[in-house]
Amino acid sequence: MLIVTTSSRIVLASRPVGAPEPSDFRAEDVPVPPTGEGELLLRTIYLSLDPYVRGRLGDAHAYRSASPLLPLGEVIPGGTVCEVVESRSPGFAAGDIVLADLGWQSFGVRGAAGVRRLDPGAAPVSTALGVLGMPGFTAYVGLNLIGRPNPGETVVVAAATGPVGSMVGQLAQLAGCRAVGIAGGPDKVAWLRENGFAAALDHRSPTFGDELAAAVPDGVDIYFENVGGRVFDAVLPHLNLGARVPVCGMVSEYNGDGPAAGPDRLPGLMSLILSRAITVQGFHFRPYAASHERRFLDETAAAIRAGRVHYREDIVAGLESAPAAFAGLLRGANFGKLLVRVGPDPTQGDS
Ligand SMILES: NC(=O)c1ccc[n+]([C@@H]2O[C@H](COP(=O)([O-])OP(=O)(O)OC[C@H]3O[C@@H](n4cnc5c(N)ncnc54)[C@H](OP(=O)(O)O)[C@@H]3O)[C@@H](O)[C@H]2O)c1
Repeated sequence: MLIVTTSSRIVLASRPVGAPEPSDFRAEDVPVPPTGEGELLLRTIYLSLDPYVRGRLGDAHAYRSASPLLPLGEVIPGGTVCEVVESRSPGFAAGDIVLADLGWQSFGVRGAAGVRRLDPGAAPVSTALGVLGMPGFTAYVGLNLIGRPNPGETVVVAAATGPVGSMVGQLAQLAGCRAVGIAGGPDKVAWLRENGFAAALDHRSPTFGDELAAAVPDGVDIYFENVGGRVFDAVLPHLNLGARVPVCGMVSEYNGDGPAAGPDRLPGLMSLILSRAITVQGFHFRPYAASHERRFLDETAAAIRAGRVHYREDIVAGLESAPAAFAGLLRGANFGKLLVRVGPDPTQGDS
């Protein structure tokens, strides 16, 4: 058995002001606690970097009320795919691959009840953090349960090559909708075209507003809100009577540098919502998990196997890469689901 005494971890050193800086994080080596009865000692293989974490770090307005602030000195949170190093639970054995929430650290101990075993034969284990994980499920909930797509409708989504947006666009296509994807840069736009989006637009284009108008000649029935800011402003006038707006995230504002929240724009927005009978609904994936996650996993795994859903991963190497990669996520430097490969992946033949 691997003898593990020390874990490398990254903790919050200071609250970021604006975009996170390397100095907001601190790397440490700490002793690994003993594995108690019913617990597992886990080794991190893949770490998920997710936009919501910015809200936990503080000094930005978005997500503040949804999640408590992370205390200074705490390990940065994050979903992980791990290998069981030692099991003191009858349900798990050393060598099992599991989904856990170890955060930004190389080893840790967790209760067996809080982890889920993964089947490496069913799908690459990294997908449990992306297309077959929390982001994919978020897309499923937001589009299907809140957006309620009908064949022939137009669905617009931004951050469209990311794990949430790419799934939204592909589920929309599977529902018989016309999917319009918005992303940052020509490579991302090309990927959207290759993956069946009826139109793909670069939000950085100086003529973005005109391009959007041309791409939605019949208006917009569902705007899946991932980013807020300029993209939201551009889509708003195109919303149809009865449009639905699942509000999933506002990543353009997570660093606190978006337009200040305030009542100045609200009356105009409310008039539009009223006159076009628009449904705007914020949501969080978690309350839907018990009732819908099993079905999501079965349907999505089958769709991937049949080649009807594609996904893309952006994997950086080494835990020490996490702070810079995370800062990049908040300005669109990632291309696909952003993961850190913290240690070897035995399911890929690594030792
Ligand atoms: N409600 C929930 O339960 C829930 C769960 C998971 C995720 N979310 C939210 O879903 C959204 C997407 O998450 P994800 O994990 O799929 O992230 P992601 O797409 O991998 O990464 C975020 C993307 O946002 C785009 N972006 C960043 N700054 C932007 C700006 N100023 N204007 C326009 N686009 C910008 C970038 O893509 P481009 O380069 O293409 O612009 C960037 O790659 C986020 O808002 C996240 O917080 C919500």
